[in-house]
Amino acid sequence: MSVLNMVLYPDDPLSQVAEPFAKVGPEVVKLAQDMLETMDTYEGIGLAGPQVGVSKRIFVLREPDGPKMCLINPEILEVDGCEEGEEGCLSLPRIYTEVQRATWIKVRALDVYGKRHEFEAEDLLARIIQHENDHLDGVIFLDRVDVLKRQEKLQEWEEVRGRMMAALGGG
Ligand code: NI
Repeated sequence: MSVLNMVLYPDDPLSQVAEPFAKVGPEVVKLAQDMLETMDTYEGIGLAGPQVGVSKRIFVLREPDGPKMCLINPEILEVDGCEEGEEGCLSLPRIYTEVQRATWIKVRALDVYGKRHEFEAEDLLARIIQHENDHLDGVIFLDRVDVLKRQEKLQEWEEVRGRMMAALGGG
């Protein structure tokens, strides 16, 4: 397994619409394992393909103390309820804000073996899936907050990113 490079906002392909998998072959197992290792290394609870430079419809996640999951070609079929909750993103580390999400969703997705699953999720799991699914459509969590808050958080991110780049010697 290997840790993949994290794509930071606003770099490509974060803002692009990711492509579905035409078929799920053995290489997808390796990709999912690498993504899970990358997510754990960065101490995240979710990670989508575009965040590691793979513009494909795949994401991995793990609720604290929950099982590791990998969703491929996911579709959110139904939503219900609405709640604000704090979110962050591995592509904008150290930036957190409240985002409104549905509290209950019904999801359809393939697993790494290409088997189709349909299931319901609520609360934190539903929030993670909605956040990661957005990444597949080129949408980040700051696109889900009001204009002023978005502006403020993007400014904050610009400063954080500047400091990160300086620390890496990138100027
Ligand atoms: Ni994210």
